[in-house]
Amino acid sequence: MNFNTIIEPFRIKSVERILLTTEAERRDFLREAHFNPFLLRSGQVIIDLLTDSGTSAMSSEQWAGMMRGDESYAGASSWQRMETAVRDLTDYPYILPTHQGRAAEHLLYTRIGGPGKVFISNTHFDTTRANIEFSGATAIDCPAPEGLQPETYHPFKGNLDTVKLREYIGRYGAANIAAVILTVTNNSGGGQPASMANAREVSEICKSNGIRFILDACRIAENAWFIRQREPGFDKKSCRDIAKEMFSLADGCVFSAKKDALANIGGFLALRDLELAIQCRTVLIITEGYSTYGGLSGRDMEAIAIGLEEVFQEDYLEYRIKSTEYLADKLRRMGVPVLWPAGGHAVYIDAKAFYSHIRPEEYPGQALACELYLKGGIRCCEIGSVMFGKYDEAGRLIPAAMELVRLAIPRRVYTQSHIDYVAEVFTGLLDDRARVHGFRIVSEPPFLRHFTARFERLGN
Ligand code: F0G
Repeated sequence: MNFNTIIEPFRIKSVERILLTTEAERRDFLREAHFNPFLLRSGQVIIDLLTDSGTSAMSSEQWAGMMRGDESYAGASSWQRMETAVRDLTDYPYILPTHQGRAAEHLLYTRIGGPGKVFISNTHFDTTRANIEFSGATAIDCPAPEGLQPETYHPFKGNLDTVKLREYIGRYGAANIAAVILTVTNNSGGGQPASMANAREVSEICKSNGIRFILDACRIAENAWFIRQREPGFDKKSCRDIAKEMFSLADGCVFSAKKDALANIGGFLALRDLELAIQCRTVLIITEGYSTYGGLSGRDMEAIAIGLEEVFQEDYLEYRIKSTEYLADKLRRMGVPVLWPAGGHAVYIDAKAFYSHIRPEEYPGQALACELYLKGGIRCCEIGSVMFGKYDEAGRLIPAAMELVRLAIPRRVYTQSHIDYVAEVFTGLLDDRARVHGFRIVSEPPFLRHFTARFERLGN
């Protein structure tokens, strides 16, 4: 018998209390947080959809592994377990543990970046772009055109535009391109997958031009599930084999274990090039920790090793992708402009369409994030001109390509009733749209401003 209900393929063994705040309380909390949800305290939040990163519920197997954690400084058995798990999956010979994904990015991109260098990606994630620009290099986003049309269906909106890639190689010269980075799934572009055909083409272009090809692979299990569902020729393959095939096309990867390793902290850099690995390892030891723990405790490394196995369990991946789709579907049927199809780890709302009366210069995504918190205690994240806006020489905002709000779903944390509640909160927001005003930034740092910027509401 086939059932339509996708149940959570786990039982709950330990629970965490949620404090149910009132709207009046949240109004004060939001003002105290300068209208920036990143500045809220977690206890002030009912449903936390700020990120899927480091927020996974660990399994009993992972907790058991934590007890086994070997905290030896050098050569810990927990490192051997993590290294074996990463090598079995990626087949890359040189693996450097890091405390999280951005540390791996920092090691690699400061090494190969620097002034005059160019990086090209389907879309650079914020920490990726920040690390590249911090080195003095330039980061160019090169998403396939269909990735920029929020409402039109395309199976692989995370693809990199290979026509433009060739143009950029001609314009900047292969020798100046430090790396091409394929982010799977494309987080900043809506959690959308890249196809194997696209990864293969990018790989071939890079090979024939002598350019390094790096995967930002932190959601590669989710990406593999989409490939199996949507790309001809993959329906009989396991998601793990699909991921392995994708790793085989690249020269290395950066990986945040806080996503598809189901861990609360951790990451790694994995490379084929010995010379480069040695250079990165030297900096690793100076900045992160010795090369057999890189800023991680033994128990973290155990959790990562086990998580990398569990994430490829097919019943888990089916539940994971379908439960995200469930929220997107529900919102879409209610008339909420949702980036379509749903991403793997998150549902993205097109805030420009939701609040069509708020100009990008007044940050419609920030307005939506604040309303969701105010009305329902839901915390989420703007991925638009607050995160990616730039200023021109006259100090005018150059808006981001899209004004999105991301509802990121932590792995194995919320049940269907939590998700139904989120949809219900949107009902109130839909009725109240005209009354909502945009925001002005009152203070901001030079890099990654969305984390700490302070805002002021316009119009009242
Ligand atoms: N690359 C991608 C595609 C990411 O989504 C992230 C983190 C990183 C790199 C950096 O990894 O956090 O372990 O240092 N994304 C989180 C998010 C923060 O909310 O999407 P990290």
